[in-house]
Amino acid sequence: MKKITLGLVLGAAAFGAVFSGPVMAAGDGIAIERKKWSFSGPFGHFDKNQLQRGFMVYEKVCATCHGLSRIAFRNLSQKGGPEFPEAGVRSLAATYKIDDLDANGESAQRAGRLSDRIPGPYKNEVQARARNGGSMPPDLSLIAKGRNVEYTGTLWYHPISMLKDVATGYQEGGADYLYALLTSYKEKAPAYRLTSGRLVSVAETDVKDEKSVVRCATVDKGEGGKPDTCNAMAQGMHYNASFPGHQISMFPPLSPNDSRLKYADGAPTTQSSYAADVTAFLFWAADPTHDERKNMGWQVLLYLLVTAILLFIAKKRLWREVH
Ligand code: HEC
Repeated sequence: MKKITLGLVLGAAAFGAVFSGPVMAAGDGIAIERKKWSFSGPFGHFDKNQLQRGFMVYEKVCATCHGLSRIAFRNLSQKGGPEFPEAGVRSLAATYKIDDLDANGESAQRAGRLSDRIPGPYKNEVQARARNGGSMPPDLSLIAKGRNVEYTGTLWYHPISMLKDVATGYQEGGADYLYALLTSYKEKAPAYRLTSGRLVSVAETDVKDEKSVVRCATVDKGEGGKPDTCNAMAQGMHYNASFPGHQISMFPPLSPNDSRLKYADGAPTTQSSYAADVTAFLFWAADPTHDERKNMGWQVLLYLLVTAILLFIAKKRLWREVH
């Protein structure tokens, strides 16, 4: 009886896992490659130098349009983060103007302090949208947690893949998505050729003449004999292979050897390394106690192991006379 109940429960769980669909998907079933991060897996930790470089990318490039409202300056010198020297962070904070009240209660601006949160580039959402052609650049404090990758493999493998993720402690979906987003811009949307109502994909190397192809951000397959529909790129949008719908209003923010991003530690200044660094930084920003938590987890496991051994010895001694 027990076996049947167990079977039913497991069956229901597997059914739910397969048919409920991904819970936190980036959308559109876009395959996103998984990257090896220094913070991957149960033993993973942030690389302090990478976080320092990532902050530089955020501050010099992304901060023009995106806020990081949940991070205070003092967090930047906190253990388990970029760990910048406090004096440096204090002078950095002082370069920002913070809205506050003066001694008479009138609104006034003062220099930033360690305890202030890093101010965003805009006063409010209306101004943010107005400056970005109507689009809202989201605050990046929690973006690494707010995005994830969607499972795109075969249906039967889905439960196995989920179990594998649990076993390996996979939780870097947000980082994998951000990295993919920052490195998947293409100059043009993919080319298609219209052949009797069907849009057939054409490889970029086979496009001899732009006039002979149509460029579509996405294609809706025509059902029941209807022709396929090409969703062309809208004005002012950029093609991004990893963004849901493939049309994003954010201009490609990273290009190699950016003169604003001079790395002192000799790390490569390619687009992909900028992207990896800023992604690692944003992953930290969304989870500043990540390293501490992982260390604590291992300490707790060790504690439980020692307790279990002691209890076992105690049990042996107590029951020695009885057996
Ligand atoms: C010139 C302004 C600008 C700059 C610079 C910029 N962004 Fe954006 N970003 C935007 C706008 C506008 C959007 C909203 C896009 C949309 O919804 O189509 C956006 C959206 C995003 C998103 C959300 C994507 C999603 O899944 O919804 C992320 C993540 C992001 N930007 C990261 C970055 C990073 C990291 C940098 C720095 C390397 C950066 N941005 C630099 C304007 C900018």
